[in-house]
Amino acid sequence: MQNIKLSIDKAFGFISEQAVLGYKEKVAAANAALHNGTGKGNDFLGWLNLPSSIDEAHLADVENTARILRENCEVVVVVGIGGSYLGAKAVIDALSNSFDWLLTDRKAPIVVYAGQNIGEDYLYELQEMLKTKKFGIISISKSGTTTEPALAFRLLKTQLEEQQGKESAQKLIVAVTDKARGALRTLATQEGYKTYIIEDNIGGRYSVFSPVGLLPMAVAGFDIRQFVAGALSMEVLCGTETAFEENPAAIYAAVRNELYKSGKKIEILVNFHPKLHYVSEWWKQLYGESEGKDNLGIFPAAVDFTSDLHSMGQWIQEGERTIFETVITVNESNFQKIVPSDKANLDGLNFLAGKRVDEVNKMAELGTMIAHIDGGVPNLKIELPKLNEFYLGQLLYFFEKACGISGYVLGVNPFDQPGVEAYKKNMFALLDKPGFEAESKAIKAR
Ligand code: PA5
Repeated sequence: MQNIKLSIDKAFGFISEQAVLGYKEKVAAANAALHNGTGKGNDFLGWLNLPSSIDEAHLADVENTARILRENCEVVVVVGIGGSYLGAKAVIDALSNSFDWLLTDRKAPIVVYAGQNIGEDYLYELQEMLKTKKFGIISISKSGTTTEPALAFRLLKTQLEEQQGKESAQKLIVAVTDKARGALRTLATQEGYKTYIIEDNIGGRYSVFSPVGLLPMAVAGFDIRQFVAGALSMEVLCGTETAFEENPAAIYAAVRNELYKSGKKIEILVNFHPKLHYVSEWWKQLYGESEGKDNLGIFPAAVDFTSDLHSMGQWIQEGERTIFETVITVNESNFQKIVPSDKANLDGLNFLAGKRVDEVNKMAELGTMIAHIDGGVPNLKIELPKLNEFYLGQLLYFFEKACGISGYVLGVNPFDQPGVEAYKKNMFALLDKPGFEAESKAIKAR
């Protein structure tokens, strides 16, 4: 196995190599603070050595639960929001057939999601679809009290019990939550669901290597051992023993902080592989919630190219010069497709005949990078040798580690998210939740 590779040379010219090297000590101190537990938010560092702490018994147990769901369900609904679903969806989408739900020779249940929004039509349509399906539920909430997933779970649990009977339903529901606190824990204990614990010291957006990510991935039929093995290799490479020049998390943290200091306030994560859309969504949450506080932080944005070159391409090429791009590139496609020759050549595409579709994509990628650099957009690149469990495990752990270091270099606590509470308080007040009487009166007066 190789490693994913970070290239930063196309950021030089906008910032200097010297300036990036100037971060060596700061970054080493941030990395050490993570490992020594001496930095901000040090009660949320359980993710740091998670890959190396996962043992055989745990993996076997997750695989066994996944097998039971696979054998008994056509559809499994993963209920969760934010860090409680984005990691699983990122990996499952990246590795699944793009037309998964239409395949007739499926070997695993279709995984769908609920509790990530409060769309009434979404929930209605989901429940209508499930009426004719054998389904199971993985309910994921660390706090066990988040409104969106709790609401979806109430609807789906009722439906499952009506369709299957209470006793069978109990066997088809798995809860992933806190070991003692929260309504989901109480419910799971009372109903006798199979449960997995999200440890206190693992925050939602850093939980993809816990059962939060592993169980849905295993249900979808993916190799969680390879995923964890990839993460483990990055845990070692991004550790404190590795020199700055060899440590991709340290370099990424340094470059993005220097770019931010130079006025680049927006980072756009770019992919040329539509299956990576939700990797970007996961990354946006990771960096947005970790760094966006104290009136600081790069705004994390994302585009899918070449699709978005026909929408956002104009802005990126010629809009305000406050952006930089980080491009995720996949070196080898899993399949090959050759452009056919056409006698009439009415579409004028015979110049592509005999070439792989991926070669066309790669030239689009190269052409875009050169155009954007010419247009004043610094460019970082992360290469994945292939799209598989191992390299995705590497990629996600690399991003987590770089985020912890980058947040410390920026001077924020990368492990809290106090700003997320503001909307919840208003929503509860507007909905007359008991305990919010004063807030209710005040907000309704507005
Ligand atoms: O990163 C975080 O902590 C959040 O985005 C949470 O994952 C999200 O709010 C869901 O919380 P919970 O798992 O408690 O339902």
